[in-house]
Amino acid sequence: MNIENLVRPNIRALMPYSSARDEFTGNGEVFLDANENPFETEVNRYPDPYQRAIKENLAPIKSVRPSQIFLGNGSDEAIDLIIRIFCEPGKDKTIISDPSYGMYQVSAGINNIEVIKVPLSENFEFIAENMLKEADENTKVAFLCSPNNPSGNALDSAEVEKFIQSFEGIVVVDEAYIDFSLSESFTKKLENYSSLIVMQTFSKAWGLAGLRLGMAFASEEIISLINKVKPPYNINILTQKAALEALNNEDKVKAEIKLILQQREWLQNELTKLVITEHIFPSDSNFLLVRFKEAKQLFDYLIAKEIIVRDRRKVRFGDNCLRITVGTPEENQKLITAIKNYQP
Ligand SMILES: Cc1ncc(COP(=O)(O)O)c(C=O)c1O
Repeated sequence: MNIENLVRPNIRALMPYSSARDEFTGNGEVFLDANENPFETEVNRYPDPYQRAIKENLAPIKSVRPSQIFLGNGSDEAIDLIIRIFCEPGKDKTIISDPSYGMYQVSAGINNIEVIKVPLSENFEFIAENMLKEADENTKVAFLCSPNNPSGNALDSAEVEKFIQSFEGIVVVDEAYIDFSLSESFTKKLENYSSLIVMQTFSKAWGLAGLRLGMAFASEEIISLINKVKPPYNINILTQKAALEALNNEDKVKAEIKLILQQREWLQNELTKLVITEHIFPSDSNFLLVRFKEAKQLFDYLIAKEIIVRDRRKVRFGDNCLRITVGTPEENQKLITAIKNYQP
């Protein structure tokens, strides 16, 4: 696919800002080029605009080259930049499956981009054909979320691939929850599809939501485009340090994922036994979407007990559904004990 043809003309023509750290990257001893305060604190210098150390460490973990990685201030920054690169305000469109993560629509709205919402099936399954037939020539970016928020299930990989093969625009596969899933990441397919962007995040399995660090993996051509429009120093020094530490401690994350998955199964079993539980949707994530008999009353009761879950009754096919994140064993036990004591 010719990616350049998909890019907005003003972005194609844009001369990016060239920072002091862009113009000199060698080993200097005296830095008098960026109008910084020279007195040493941990943060008196600007950070590496391309976060090279993180990318060097992350690339082998994800089986990609460092030049195929973009790091953003949360995945939300990547979502916004992708829309701004490819969608002309007031003219172009994005297409998303519904229900899905809310920020695709919000980011599109901020940029004055129309959103075509295509329903998943009632079991939250993705059917490529349904989405393909709603797209038109102005539909530049598609967002698919797998595993999907708020339903929790991974989308059928063959259907997603079929969609990527036939859609004539950029396909973003948001894999924020991939570390909790048995499905293979679409990063493995990057060499096959020049229009594919895979997003992941340090906010979920990596346990670093407070840092705000999201990842996007794509062809070097797409990553160069994102680098061209991103704010020069978008990832601060403290975040870069903390991410490097985490990457050098991958075993801790793996152990936590294992425990979270065990706890997901435990929660599922306990919730199944309760008479107020009507249905638990299959999950490939660190949360469960659960349909209860009277979800609103239960939601309010749990808040009164200072246990906060997410009310998802208003999303498509989410009637009487609450979304419950898997917590620590103690937190999960508290939730189940509270629900057992609940008298509707
Ligand atoms: C599907 C999905 N993508 C992205 C995000 C946000 O990621 P980040 O914290 O990296 O902005 C979330 C957060 O809930 C999510 O559910």
